[in-house]
Amino acid sequence: MDNKNFKRILITAALPYANGPIHLGHLAGAYLPADIFVRFKRLKGDDILFICGSDEHGVPITITAEKEGVSPKVIIDRYHEMNRKAFEDFGMSFDNYSRTSLPLHHRTAQEFFLKYYKNGILKQKKEFQYYDEKVKMFLPDRYLVGTCPHCKSEDARGDQCENCGSYLNPTDLINPKSKITGETPVLKETTHFYFPLGDYQTRLEKYIAEKDAQEGWKENVLNYCRSWFQEGLQDRAVTRDLDWGVKVPIEGFEDKVLYVWFEAVLGYISSTKEWAEKNGKPDEWREYWQSPDTKYIAFIGKDNVVFHCIVFPAMLMAWNDLSDEKYILPDNVPANEFLNYEGLKFSKSRGWGIDLKDFLEHFPPDPLRYYLASILPENRDTDFYWRDFQAKNNNELADIFGNFVNRTLTFTAKHFNSQVPEIKKVRNIDEELLKQIPEFKKNIEELYEKIKIKDALTETMNLARLANKYFNDSQPWKTIKEDPDACATTINLSLQLIRTLAVLLSPVIPFTSERIFKIMNIDNPELKKWQGCDETKLVAGHKINQPEIIFSKIDDKLIEPYLKSQEKNKNLELEVNQSIQSTIDIDLFKKIEIRVAKVLECENVPKSKKLLKLKVDLGFEKRQVIAGLAEYYKPEELIGKKVLIVSNLKEAKLMNEISQGMILAVEDENKNLKLVTVEESLPLGSLLR
Ligand code: 2FM
Ligand code: ZN
Repeated sequence: MDNKNFKRILITAALPYANGPIHLGHLAGAYLPADIFVRFKRLKGDDILFICGSDEHGVPITITAEKEGVSPKVIIDRYHEMNRKAFEDFGMSFDNYSRTSLPLHHRTAQEFFLKYYKNGILKQKKEFQYYDEKVKMFLPDRYLVGTCPHCKSEDARGDQCENCGSYLNPTDLINPKSKITGETPVLKETTHFYFPLGDYQTRLEKYIAEKDAQEGWKENVLNYCRSWFQEGLQDRAVTRDLDWGVKVPIEGFEDKVLYVWFEAVLGYISSTKEWAEKNGKPDEWREYWQSPDTKYIAFIGKDNVVFHCIVFPAMLMAWNDLSDEKYILPDNVPANEFLNYEGLKFSKSRGWGIDLKDFLEHFPPDPLRYYLASILPENRDTDFYWRDFQAKNNNELADIFGNFVNRTLTFTAKHFNSQVPEIKKVRNIDEELLKQIPEFKKNIEELYEKIKIKDALTETMNLARLANKYFNDSQPWKTIKEDPDACATTINLSLQLIRTLAVLLSPVIPFTSERIFKIMNIDNPELKKWQGCDETKLVAGHKINQPEIIFSKIDDKLIEPYLKSQEKNKNLELEVNQSIQSTIDIDLFKKIEIRVAKVLECENVPKSKKLLKLKVDLGFEKRQVIAGLAEYYKPEELIGKKVLIVSNLKEAKLMNEISQGMILAVEDENKNLKLVTVEESLPLGSLLR
């Protein structure tokens, strides 16, 4: 990361839709890692700017508004304020939290659009789109429902079938209906502008390869990009027939708006402009966006990869081709996977999950920050479990770190008149400790620089463990009588270590670190910096305030209400699975051929989130099978596995791919599919009896 001398760093975190409250999944995906990284860099003294804001356009907001019978403005005002406040209470240290409904943002987005338009970058295309004659409006993709052409599910949307995961165009739907009126819509001609994404593919591939070589991009992010490139990038419509959004600034197009993704990414720029204006230096935003010695890192969740790694960079490239004011492109996009809640996906409609606001009404922010940081879905999806949250708080924060701080401080108060004692004698155990602290600090720093936040935290807690062990092994309660000089050293170094740990942990638990500094009577900013935090800077005689317990344990009683409601929800889900639906006679069963097969090849089906394409060997022949396993297995995990296959199913076509059989899998209690595997020794093709 330090391979080029950057002068400043720009950090953006995805602009959340002002269409609902922030939940814990959002935090683990993008916001918390961004904040921890930013706090770390600030501690190091780097010039860093942290930008975010609400994404206030898009169809889901208009749908919510319609449902509630209010204007979209009412919805965005409500959630913008709610989320801004919840973020603040959680300790998100944004330099600016803006909103895309600001005129400044509308002007910025229109400026980009006009630049492309005037220079002939955009293509105009006439097309037929569904129109609801009753309410006289063109229907956005999500306002259409119908039958999926692939799996025949009846509630597919115009943009996607939730059932089989295929991406759809509205005209793919069989028997489409308007979601607003339930009427059958008519096709009506409309004109839209398209951004020629395909023209930038070669440059985008080169850009990502170069940035990856410099920064080491995450494998999951590179994989998403590769699959888009493999598909071939297509023209993308950048306008929509809607009235909520940024107006298309061209005569004759007044009743259209810019597509939400086209303008939302530009929200980072307008938020930076707003920050500069508030700061009284309106041009300062350019330092961060248009200066080649700024490094730009965009924190997002995995569902936003294509917009940040492909669409946004292409838009900036197009601008840069046309202007002397050149924008920098993201140097890294460390997208996280998803966080689930007690084994299932967060779901607003099923009431599954917990909002940040509700959480903070019952628990302080730091234990949540700590727990989420320890389970960040950096490489794969992970889960929030209440029991786990309780255990990490009680066994790690309270019992390891909290206990060390508390023992040291009470001992100092009792035996050393609340003052840092003088070092008169250094034993081996002390020397050993003094040697290890800088090594820990160096490792932790390297991990943070690589944005390996989970590992950095683990290493920091290892130092807290070591601190506790040092205190135990030094036995100050004995040496206070037998060897007072040795005891003084133990307490001096333990106090020094509290400061070290308070600094090292402050990106993760900033509120607690600040409290520790208060108790330790440290207000000199120099002593709160990363630089030198591994040195013994507290001077003998320094007076310490009254000790306080810094972490309280979380009692069963506090989390039980959540566990109970979770149980109820989960049981509802399982009921369906556990009842035997109907019986069949043995002859029917005998007609089903189930055989042992081996997976030879496996890859994702392009444009499908759920499907994998497998080549399997049945011994007597090889087959292609399409299986809905992509959310549960990576292709490489399946290669070489022996599985069971229904081998006499009629051939089917899924997403244009032939499927010649079905792989057997079972659903576990968390609704994840698990393959039914068989013993290695069973010959290929053997029949289940
Ligand atoms: O997924 C989301 O919540 C989007 N509103 C993220 C937008 S990020 C950027 F484009 F602003
Ligand atoms: Zn489908």
